[in-house]
Amino acid sequence: MSIVTPPPAVPRHLAIIMDGNGRWAAQRKRPRMIGHRAGARAVNTCIDFCLERGIAALTLFAFSSENWGRPEEEVGALMKLFLNALEREVDELHRRGVRVRFIGERQRFSDAIRARMQHAESLTAGNTRLHLGIAASYGGRQDIAHAARSLAEDVAAGRLRPEDIDESVFGTRVALADLPPPDLFIRTGGDIRISNFLLWQLAYTELWFTDILWPEFDASALQAALQAYASRERRYGLTSAQLAQGAAALSEVSAR
Ligand code: FPP
Repeated sequence: MSIVTPPPAVPRHLAIIMDGNGRWAAQRKRPRMIGHRAGARAVNTCIDFCLERGIAALTLFAFSSENWGRPEEEVGALMKLFLNALEREVDELHRRGVRVRFIGERQRFSDAIRARMQHAESLTAGNTRLHLGIAASYGGRQDIAHAARSLAEDVAAGRLRPEDIDESVFGTRVALADLPPPDLFIRTGGDIRISNFLLWQLAYTELWFTDILWPEFDASALQAALQAYASRERRYGLTSAQLAQGAAALSEVSAR
């Protein structure tokens, strides 16, 4: 039996639902948009932290498919914030070796935002220090449905046999298929749910929830999450005794 090293104590891939911007603003009797702006600053803190700690991938839920249903004024202001952030931050991210990629239904955004997304992706495509994934107009069920559709198209065209579709083939068609799945998921803002984020990819992810509102989520809060993560035993359906022996099967299940 080969000895397999368990996943490292620092997550390779961190996925975050950044919740609580609106409540943070309400506590200060300010418009919700002030909370989103403060949230954008917290995004920078989080990127700095990942770069310092050598975390390889960070995926942020910036805007869900369902968020289009928010009041028109808030959606419009969020779009302006995204566009400004793209214009302002991308060169600096590139300079620091960050690769930027967007997942979600890009066609729902304006031409200006789509062009900026495209520019950010092509400018930073060769970077390897940190992979920054931004989920925008993203939904986990939508992601899985797209994967199913793409497989069905291959079957209909005779490129794939139904019996060849298994978890590993399916996994190549969902978003971020070229990255290890998230090791650690964080949700700020007090709610204990996944809210249609990365449903396929989170199957074996460690989950961590905090009441801290996103604009106040800083390096010490991130450190607390990492500490909790380091103390978890990731068994992937195996037993503690098997893990202690270094079960060969661990490498197979943890790669999913
Ligand atoms: C959830 O808080 C947050 C959002 C829907 C928007 C997230 C956007 C940012 C953090 C700002 C910019 C991001 C990037 C990537 C530039 P909420 O509005 O649901 O808060 P609430 O639950 O307190 O109302």
